[in-house]
Amino acid sequence: MTDRQTILQALSTIPLLKPHQIEDVTIKDTGTIGIILSLPPIDPNLRDAIVQQCKAKVMPLEGVKDVWVKIGVALPKAEEKPGGVARVKHIIAVSSGKGGVGKTSVAVNLAVALAEMGYQVGLMDADIYGPNVPLMLGMQDASLWVERDEQGQEVVEPAFNYGVKMISMAFLIDRDQPVMWRGPMLDGMVKKFLHQAKWGELDFLLVDMPPGTGDVQISLAQSVPLTGAIVVTTPQTVALLDARKGLRMFQNLRVPILGIVENMSYFVPPDLPDRQYDIFGSGGGSKTAQELGIPLLGCIPLEMQLRESSDKGVPMVLAQPQSASAQAIKQVAQALCGKVCADREMAK
Ligand SMILES: Nc1ncnc2c1ncn2[C@@H]1O[C@H](COP(=O)(O)OP(=O)(O)O)[C@@H](O)[C@H]1O
Ligand SMILES: [Mg+2]
Repeated sequence: MTDRQTILQALSTIPLLKPHQIEDVTIKDTGTIGIILSLPPIDPNLRDAIVQQCKAKVMPLEGVKDVWVKIGVALPKAEEKPGGVARVKHIIAVSSGKGGVGKTSVAVNLAVALAEMGYQVGLMDADIYGPNVPLMLGMQDASLWVERDEQGQEVVEPAFNYGVKMISMAFLIDRDQPVMWRGPMLDGMVKKFLHQAKWGELDFLLVDMPPGTGDVQISLAQSVPLTGAIVVTTPQTVALLDARKGLRMFQNLRVPILGIVENMSYFVPPDLPDRQYDIFGSGGGSKTAQELGIPLLGCIPLEMQLRESSDKGVPMVLAQPQSASAQAIKQVAQALCGKVCADREMAK
């Protein structure tokens, strides 16, 4: 049976892989070889190429029946982590394991609710797959204003509506064209939006993330110190499983989890506002929160008017402030402030 040294030697012939990036090699009696790599955030195609080459080099060795390669993300050491965004107090990622759970609806309404409370709020739409913030914030036709500052650096003026400053990936993507984004390119985009936008003085900068656990999450977590992340989920089992994965990723990236928001918790029929139907099951969010020891920031009901108002570009907290969903979102905003603003005097 092949030994560790032989395997390491075989791996050393891969030009894309540096020796210090090999974290561990395990050899099982069954002939299964496990290779654990620690790579910086890189282009997924490059990552796949490295995995394929590892397999190609190790598979032919004596006694080897199977090879699996696991990749961890190399985190920059604390002292290497760059500073925050000038004059922005709290950067908060709004994320979800699954798409379509209402992450953008929560991010937009939360931003407006915080602005209504008197905070200075920015919203960065980093969802490359579905940048819907401009639509939901009534700014579909807005575009970015690029100018140069005194040092000749390009700076971007965020769009502004309902008390919220906003920048979206949508402004850079041809509306009807799906675009293949590569890791390094995204990394650049996230940094540009963070540092070259004229956010000015902000209490909160919310970031609407793409669903899942990918390059944008890693890039954001490594670009700036985040106050924390909010994870949006529905009470449904599959969404919760994905949410757990997302939670684990943020924990690995050492980003504090501020709490879970359960969306579409129950259905409130427009003609019978006193009734509640648990369409996606009930209590999933609070159970997961309890199991993982993470606070549940709130439960937002499914209301037809929320979708309608989103489509019209008027967030529910403004369109129907007395509705059950708007009230629930305002409670989430309160809970979030309670969590991050030790300094309650922040509000003007
Ligand atoms: N609580 C809710 N009640 C009614 N419709 C909702 C609710 N939350 C989200 N939606 C609708 O569901 C769809 C997906 O929501 P969205 O916020 O875009 O999800 P995500 O950003 O997670 O993909 C949208 O059409 C939105 O209007
Ligand atoms: Mg979205």
